Amino acid sequence: MRLFVAIALPDPVADGLVMMQGGIPGARWSTREQLHLTLRFIGDVDGRDAGAIDDALASIRAPRFTLELKGVGEFGGKNPRALWAGVRDEAPLVHLQRKVESAVQRVGLAPEERKFSPHVTLARLKGASGERVITFLAHHALYASGPLEVNAFILYSSLTTPNGSRYRAERAYRLE
Ligand code: 2AM
Repeated sequence: MRLFVAIALPDPVADGLVMMQGGIPGARWSTREQLHLTLRFIGDVDGRDAGAIDDALASIRAPRFTLELKGVGEFGGKNPRALWAGVRDEAPLVHLQRKVESAVQRVGLAPEERKFSPHVTLARLKGASGERVITFLAHHALYASGPLEVNAFILYSSLTTPNGSRYRAERAYRLE
């Protein structure tokens, strides 16, 4: 199964992000159920590794914190491939991400090589007009979710379907 660790968004925040979507022909917008903030992509593992990862994540002790989504951006520059919402104060999130990273390394996963750049993917783009993307970014530059309480992080499984990825929360781990 394909796994990743993420933070779920409360309904009002997800609703707000869905309301922003539109105006870019060719964009594949994340559905409300797909919206999340990834802490660690794990990838395909067998059942035994999944069990070890679950145990390692369950052993994490970290404080709950307040998160605020803020601003929008793109990955890809001239050929944007994704649109995202960013995070205002990354420090508590980075603290948790480090704990998750060391937990999964302890059970044998190779270190994540990409720098952690917290974001919520709003859309994947293929051949979208750069002008439309710029307009979208300008239009939503002042986006802010307001504070949201993060009391848990979640191990999700990802299933590829003809209609895109389906994510399912497998386990939630409470923060203190
Ligand atoms: P993305 O939203 O930036 O594409 C489930 O697929 C989650 O894991 C998504 O949020 C996705 O991030 C992230 N993800 C998928 N493949 C990844 C990879 N190879 N490395 C890091 N993160 C990945």
